[in-house]
Amino acid sequence: MTVQDSGSVEDLAARLRPGFTLGVAAAAFQIEGSLTADGRGPSGWDAFAEKPGAIVDGDSPTVACDHYNRSDEDIALMQELGVDSYRFSLSWPRIQPGGKGSINQRGLDFYDRLIDKLLAAGISPMATLFHWDTPLELEHAGGWMNRDTAERFAVYCAAAADRFGDRVDHWVTMNEPVSVTVQGYSLGVHAPGRQLLFDSLPAAHHQLLGHGMAVRALRNAGVKGQIGVSNMHCPVESASNSLGDRLMTQALDLILNRIYADAILLGQYPKPPWPMKPWFRSLGTIHDGDLELISQPLDFYGLNYYYPVKVAAGPGPAEIPTGKSPEMSEVPFHLAAYQEYETTGFGWPVAPEYLALLLRQMKDRYGDALPPVYITEGGASFPEPPHVDGPLQDTNRISYLAEHLGHALTATGPGGIAEDVDLRGYYVWTLLDNFEWAAGYSQRFGLVHVDFHTQERTPKESYYWLRALERARSHEP
Ligand code: NOJ
Repeated sequence: MTVQDSGSVEDLAARLRPGFTLGVAAAAFQIEGSLTADGRGPSGWDAFAEKPGAIVDGDSPTVACDHYNRSDEDIALMQELGVDSYRFSLSWPRIQPGGKGSINQRGLDFYDRLIDKLLAAGISPMATLFHWDTPLELEHAGGWMNRDTAERFAVYCAAAADRFGDRVDHWVTMNEPVSVTVQGYSLGVHAPGRQLLFDSLPAAHHQLLGHGMAVRALRNAGVKGQIGVSNMHCPVESASNSLGDRLMTQALDLILNRIYADAILLGQYPKPPWPMKPWFRSLGTIHDGDLELISQPLDFYGLNYYYPVKVAAGPGPAEIPTGKSPEMSEVPFHLAAYQEYETTGFGWPVAPEYLALLLRQMKDRYGDALPPVYITEGGASFPEPPHVDGPLQDTNRISYLAEHLGHALTATGPGGIAEDVDLRGYYVWTLLDNFEWAAGYSQRFGLVHVDFHTQERTPKESYYWLRALERARSHEP
């Protein structure tokens, strides 16, 4: 795939209807640094990152992109880029250091200034309330395995709603609860590093409950913005027609996608095929009324799409794309490689067609229960040097973005396979190279290169490409 194959900037711009949001997305823990500044408490990720071997190359998140001290420069980069919106996350341990009890005004103040500066720059704020930085004290009490964490979360959300409800345009309650459940509590390759395998499902239910309680808190606070959630969706397909492969594919679809989307959009958990029944026993911590809370109407649904997976039965090479591989011998499936696609730095297949299929599949599955959709994340890391002298020629990233946006627009446009999906926007992951969780600084997803020794920001060619796209499009109806 080449940039030429993706069509010209003008062609793509002409297909962006006025009001379609182009944005960039980021998360507090991945960019802010300043982990002890202004009364911030520790998070489970602070502790996890200190464990020997937890992070590739022993990288530390303590400085990251130093965004806490450089937000003016970063907003200026976004303003020059011309994006319509910035999706960022509020750090719970900055706002409520112990996860319960007193609210830290200085933590709120940081985001207060950030939101005001964004608005002054003409950039619409989309705030995510939870992007994985669970306060450490709560993690010590069981984290998301503990129902109480959801109750605590709602209290923090109410404080954020109270302070920012008049200015935030879009609220995302939770980011990718599936990643926290699977990588954090099942496999232990992310914080909190627990390896509960199939006993981790209460963490899924409690995050979903936290989502429901957050929606209620935001609605009760009368926030002016729209309310939604960001779920990662991995289209799954079977590596072969064998019964074993197909059953495992069905199981993985449930585990990766449907537990979250079915609960939120349909108010029910999917029924597991018979061999998987024991895995679902642990979801039995459900109280009366939980699913009603989880499935309250949303104003939008956020989809994070990165790659499809091809599933095969039986333990195999641990192709879990986190930068770290867990002991997989107890897991009865593995992911087969896609031969036909180029891959990113993480080894993820670059498969934009599957974004179109995913949009179709969402409508088929959820029908009218699917609210307007934002693609709240999409992007790619590629091997790139730690220091640069000028804009990196990241044509691979430009192709990636052009192809994914192009397929999403074609699918949802007139005559497209997902024509009846109301697609409202696409957020590129991410503005700056940043702390990519267990992969540390080894995976660079940014439109802007960051030299982590000097903190120098150098826009890549993909940044100029997106700027050209923004300039070429029309916002006039
Ligand atoms: C999804 C997560 O929300 C984000 O934090 C992460 O950096 C990207 N995927 C890339 O792995």
